[in-house]
Amino acid sequence: MNSSTAVSPTAIADRIIVPLDVPSKEEAIALIDSLSEVQFWKVGLELFVSSGPSILDYLKQHQKKIFLDLKLHDIPNTVAGACRAAGRYGVDLLTVHATNGRVGLKAAQAAAIEGAAQTGVEPPKVIAITVLTSLSARELAFDLKIPLELPEYALQMALLAKESGLSGAVCSPQEASQLRQICGDDFLLVCPGVRPKGAALGDQKRALTPAEAIAAGANHLVIGRPITEASDPAAAFDAICQEIAALV
Ligand code: C5P
Repeated sequence: MNSSTAVSPTAIADRIIVPLDVPSKEEAIALIDSLSEVQFWKVGLELFVSSGPSILDYLKQHQKKIFLDLKLHDIPNTVAGACRAAGRYGVDLLTVHATNGRVGLKAAQAAAIEGAAQTGVEPPKVIAITVLTSLSARELAFDLKIPLELPEYALQMALLAKESGLSGAVCSPQEASQLRQICGDDFLLVCPGVRPKGAALGDQKRALTPAEAIAAGANHLVIGRPITEASDPAAAFDAICQEIAALV
């Protein structure tokens, strides 16, 4: 524990982002209301497409932080338009694919700032998806014809995002320490694929524990089922906060 700088419980809770992996606004609200300890929620494509921005309003009304995980990927003009619109909502984090390329990433970043200025809110931190971890090394090489090995490719995508002015990247906790070393301390690393000791791995194949992921350099952890499907979700969330508190 770092005793010289006391870290508030809110600052620790902020490190854990819980995904609203549910198909409707009603179910999302039930989850938000049942876990008042959670400060930072992730709204992904399924919920956003089904419920629209009204779920963001609900989260804002309840003073929650929002990770709008839309993984935007299109021509620069279109991605910029979507980022401008997302910027107006006052969300905290917004994802775009690194494979938008340098022009698209710069346009995304600039448009998010513009959108936020239009409504007088803080601009979101735009962060890049380096590579979808659902893609195997084999698919990357044989189907997508990408000649780099997976970790090297993810690293190159993170560097492209950084050079294009983005705030950070989503990465596997396995890659966090290398990305932290190469992209520097100011680059935000958001890691899914985290499992507390003893939790079921589910479809996460190479998970690290929350403490390991934070020690590796992750700023935020995206942890879903180990919290939402626990017999006592609030206690599961609290146990993860305790694990992190011992480190920061
Ligand atoms: O329940 P679990 O902790 O596996 O949820 C992780 C969240 O992070 C889900 O919303 C999932 O879609 C997302 N995610 C992931 N792995 C990635 C990228 C995103 O699990 N590589």
